[in-house]
Amino acid sequence: MSELVQVTRRDGVLIAAVNNPPVNALSPGVPEGLLAAVREAAADDAIHAVVILGTGRTFIAGADIREFARIVSGEAPPLNLAALLEEIESSAKPVIMAIHGSALGGGLETAMAGHYRVAVASAQVGQPEVKLGLIPGAGGTQRLPRLAGVEQAMRMCALGEPVTAADALACGIVDRIVEGDLLEGALAFAAERPAVRRTRELQEKLLDATQSEQLAETFRTECGRKLRGQSAPLAALDAIAATARLSFADGIAYERELFDACLRGAQSRAMIHVFFGERTVAKIPFLPKETATLPVRRAAVVGAGTMGGGIAMCFANAGIPVLLKDTTQPALDRGMATIRRNYEASVRKGRLAAAQAEQRLALITPTVQYDGFGEADIAVEAVFEEMKLKQQIFRDLDRAMRPGAILATNTSTLDIDFIAAVTSRPKFVVGTHFFSPANVMRLLEVVRGKDTSPAVIATAMELAKPLKKIAVLSGNCFGFIGNRMFGPYREQAVSLVEEGATAQQVDEALTSWGMAMGPLAVGDLAGLDVSWRVRQEALRLRRPHLEPKTFEDVLYELGRYGQKSSLGWYRYDENRRATADPEVEHLVREYAAVQGIAQRTFTSQEIVERVLYALINEGARLLEEGIALRSVDIDIVYVNGYGCPAWRGGPMHYAGAVGLAKVLEGVRKFHDELGPAWKPAPLLEQLAREGKTFEQWSR
Ligand code: 3HC
Repeated sequence: MSELVQVTRRDGVLIAAVNNPPVNALSPGVPEGLLAAVREAAADDAIHAVVILGTGRTFIAGADIREFARIVSGEAPPLNLAALLEEIESSAKPVIMAIHGSALGGGLETAMAGHYRVAVASAQVGQPEVKLGLIPGAGGTQRLPRLAGVEQAMRMCALGEPVTAADALACGIVDRIVEGDLLEGALAFAAERPAVRRTRELQEKLLDATQSEQLAETFRTECGRKLRGQSAPLAALDAIAATARLSFADGIAYERELFDACLRGAQSRAMIHVFFGERTVAKIPFLPKETATLPVRRAAVVGAGTMGGGIAMCFANAGIPVLLKDTTQPALDRGMATIRRNYEASVRKGRLAAAQAEQRLALITPTVQYDGFGEADIAVEAVFEEMKLKQQIFRDLDRAMRPGAILATNTSTLDIDFIAAVTSRPKFVVGTHFFSPANVMRLLEVVRGKDTSPAVIATAMELAKPLKKIAVLSGNCFGFIGNRMFGPYREQAVSLVEEGATAQQVDEALTSWGMAMGPLAVGDLAGLDVSWRVRQEALRLRRPHLEPKTFEDVLYELGRYGQKSSLGWYRYDENRRATADPEVEHLVREYAAVQGIAQRTFTSQEIVERVLYALINEGARLLEEGIALRSVDIDIVYVNGYGCPAWRGGPMHYAGAVGLAKVLEGVRKFHDELGPAWKPAPLLEQLAREGKTFEQWSR
């Protein structure tokens, strides 16, 4: 018997407990162990039923995702889970699955191969494979519609969201919710001597071909909107729709074909990279695991504007009382009114109970003084990007906060060390770059200054968990990881327009590639006045890599600040819907003529290469300089903060998929044509020469 599955007996029931921490994934040995347990039960006359459950914090969280790369490379044999589960389902003695924690992916597929399922109320079940660019590959697309109906199966498999135990009970996935001890509940269920009931034999909830196809079409439209560019959701819908025309066995064969195609595709490689990447970024190689963090029981935020208000909401949402300071009462009132409106919108959308919203609001205390700051463990400054102003606030905070409290700055570009230098505690100064809107966006860039202490870095990284953020550690440089790379990316977008492309062409090329928004539309959203101010501040602080003037400065000088002024790269109506503006087209051609910029047309492919290769080349520099710890940190920043689709895996993963030799060839060509800004990063040259990817490089 496999050690991964522990077998005990009680009251004529064989209990098989999966013991494969941390999440009881179906690593090699687990499914075999379960099958062996079922066979053992079959051979033992004293046993009348089998209960399968998970030890530790969860039932089975799915196939072992780490195995997938080995399967694709041929190091491990293909997944044989469906066949093993079919044998478990064939058991002549009832098999009862007892679920706590999560039954996800192969975990739910295992559960559905049992004859009955009982669950505790806090459990969740789901088929999240699409989030890894896959479809269920162990019968999920065939058993789930038989248990829960075609519509529910399509929703769960195509969108990938799990459902609660209560919902699973309502739709037929779960047969009973157990109050109290799960094992006792499962044994009580077994004692009722239920008859064997095989999911694969159920037919009542299946639909005919027309109905199935209609539903599939509805979900295809929804996926086109919500999961644009992804192929796995469409494959999952095809597999489920096939239940109308194929036998169970043929359906399983069809599912396997589609699963294998997804597994061998670039999208799943990219999404699995992101899955592990989101966990890797929390691991900081130079911080010993035992580094003690500082408690954060109370917080303070300076600046009640969009960013400050959003950050205060993050603390309140985590149950941490927070002071919100601004200089004048009207500014503070405006900030609090926005926060209230945001909470009210969440209540209206059913995301929050009214009482919860009130509780959270009550945790935010507005103030125009530094009174009470002495009790806060962390203060986050969130005023606009001006070094002098930030330094003044840090002097005030240094006086107002107790020794040992953390002073954080929500800067998106500025030098943390300059800010820390005006305080008496540079060790306790750290950058926390939230993304707008701060209460929604998942990314938090934590920026370490030259003196920031390990405990403060660890605390800021750890704080991401209660705030429900993904923290990525960055070194200190102009723009850190995200905005430093975004600079050349946007510069190329602007240059392309100056050289003859239209703004829509550039944006559409990037959105067709998968970006949530095009770079110029992002400029309009963030405000061209904001990027202008950042450029000026950077020039003032002598950052020579910034071009002195671009066409974007012309737009700024004309008061075209973007969405906020209804005019920017585009023209906006009262609902902020963008349309192309012939005036911009006219202005840019005029600008190009004055500047002597040659005009030509561009293909989408050329646009994508220009803009993305600039991003990748800068990313390579960040790695060399140690600003980003690993290439995956850059990828996670771009997927969670800049709208890069997970199915591309982030810019550095994408570079590997294209091939670094090809990327380098492009960069060299642009260097020859466009000048020194395109100097290839030495790391890109080195890895291209060695035939490696960024992921294969380590410091
Ligand atoms: N395989 C391998 N490792 C896994 C795993 C899996 N299915 N699920 C989680 N892990 C690892 C994580 O990488 C992490 O490792 P680390 O500690 O070394 O970083 C560790 O387990 C703990 O995971 P989390 O930090 O995510 O723990 P949480 O408690 O926050 O979340 C969870 C638990 C909800 C189960 C979450 O881990 C999760 O969503 N896992 C993925 C579930 C999934 O996608 N299942 C489908 C797999 S594909 C499949 O089953 C195909 C089938 O149809 C054939």
